[in-house]
Amino acid sequence: MTQPSVVTAQPVPERPALPLVGHALSLPKGFAATAHMMKEVRELGPVYRVRAFGTELVIVGGLDLVAELADESRFRKNVHPELVDIRQFAGDGLFTAFNHEPNWRKAHDILMPAFSLGAMRDYHATMLRVARSLIGKWDQAAGRRAVDVPGDMTRLTFDTIGLCGFGYDFESFRQEDPHPFVEAMTRALAFTQAKGEAIPGSERFWLKRSERFRQDVTLMTSLVDEVIRQRRRSGGSSTGDLLGRMLHTPDARTGRPLDDVNIRNQVITFLIAGHETTSGALSFALYYLTKHPEVLARAQAEVDALWGDAETPGPAGLRHRRRLPPPRGVRGGRGRRCRQHASHLHARARRRCPLRPGAHRPGGADEVWAVLEAGGKVYVCGDGRRMAPAVREAFTAIHRRRTGADEEEAARWLVGLVESGRYVEDVWAG
Ligand code: HEM
Repeated sequence: MTQPSVVTAQPVPERPALPLVGHALSLPKGFAATAHMMKEVRELGPVYRVRAFGTELVIVGGLDLVAELADESRFRKNVHPELVDIRQFAGDGLFTAFNHEPNWRKAHDILMPAFSLGAMRDYHATMLRVARSLIGKWDQAAGRRAVDVPGDMTRLTFDTIGLCGFGYDFESFRQEDPHPFVEAMTRALAFTQAKGEAIPGSERFWLKRSERFRQDVTLMTSLVDEVIRQRRRSGGSSTGDLLGRMLHTPDARTGRPLDDVNIRNQVITFLIAGHETTSGALSFALYYLTKHPEVLARAQAEVDALWGDAETPGPAGLRHRRRLPPPRGVRGGRGRRCRQHASHLHARARRRCPLRPGAHRPGGADEVWAVLEAGGKVYVCGDGRRMAPAVREAFTAIHRRRTGADEEEAARWLVGLVESGRYVEDVWAG
């Protein structure tokens, strides 16, 4: 049984902070921010705090703690301000949807099978085609000029997602410059990130950049809308790719497929969420393979054993990937393991990724009320200055909503819970 104990309570560590500005001046931006956080976790410990202009962020590092946060029975995703900005072009797509938006559940149910191993087999031939474009380009460069590995991994992932997901060819290997969509998305993501890192309000003076952002949003949404229109015009009803699945699969609960605006949001989401994560992971994987020739030799031997000299490697080999051992320290159920693995990779490979792996996820009011009605006990542990009062407020609000009580009655109800030992605080002053 857990007992509150002041002996175990300790402040969340943090560097000395300036009034108001907090740590803002010492926080590096962009890619350097991730490396900085990893360094701070090594020096301050796996949980530490940063403050900037009144906003506090608790940074958590390490597989075990990330796994705690990935437990969806206790935490939900937090659509933080930067993600709210991304909603201007990704709307209620899976990544930026608020928990309460109905399309999140609907899209999740409809799309889940499109990410299964069986679906991967269907995408295999297309993936192979794109991989061959990459190899063709690198063969031509061999011995003549250096290749831009991260740039080509971005080409590879964009083309793969475009073709496997929506039958759209960005033709990235046939042109020197990136596709206008890719440029617009890169700029728009950089804009939202810069806004998130800027002194609040300063973006009002970014007139030119804001206008460019609006144009980029229009370019992205118009292109995707045209892809959807063309698919509808083609008259088919295949559910063989992500777009077909979204257009023609009825939701089991409502009987209706996703609407076109949400489909557009999902298409943009897949391109954002899929391309930089995957291109980053591939770039790092290639880098480390070149640094560890013994691992490269093992990977090569495995590929040779699976496909030998086959001119066209088939998708059958995909099933063998299950034999690969999970990364060290990864445990838990299947879904949980995938999430941990993804978060781990994401944290390492993210270059300028807007999609943060960590999230604060409060439990929902229904679950909280159900636990209380069943006689459950509440144990609140953490920051006593801001978090604990906010939790008390949330509990009294739930009580008022459920029972129609006024503020005073709700406060008395909470005192009753505390007195009966059903609401225990083990908090420290931040
Ligand atoms: C190595 C490659 C990838 C990594 C490391 C990665 C990492 C992650 C992580 C950590 C999350 C959860 C974030 C959170 O809950 O806060 C996530 C969610 C998501 N990822 Fe990926 N991802 C990768 C590839 C992809 C690809 C290829 C796609 C699509 C084509 C994709 C689409 C999504 C979507 C839609 C979500 C939101 C899911 C939901 O909330 O329902 N990801 N990814």
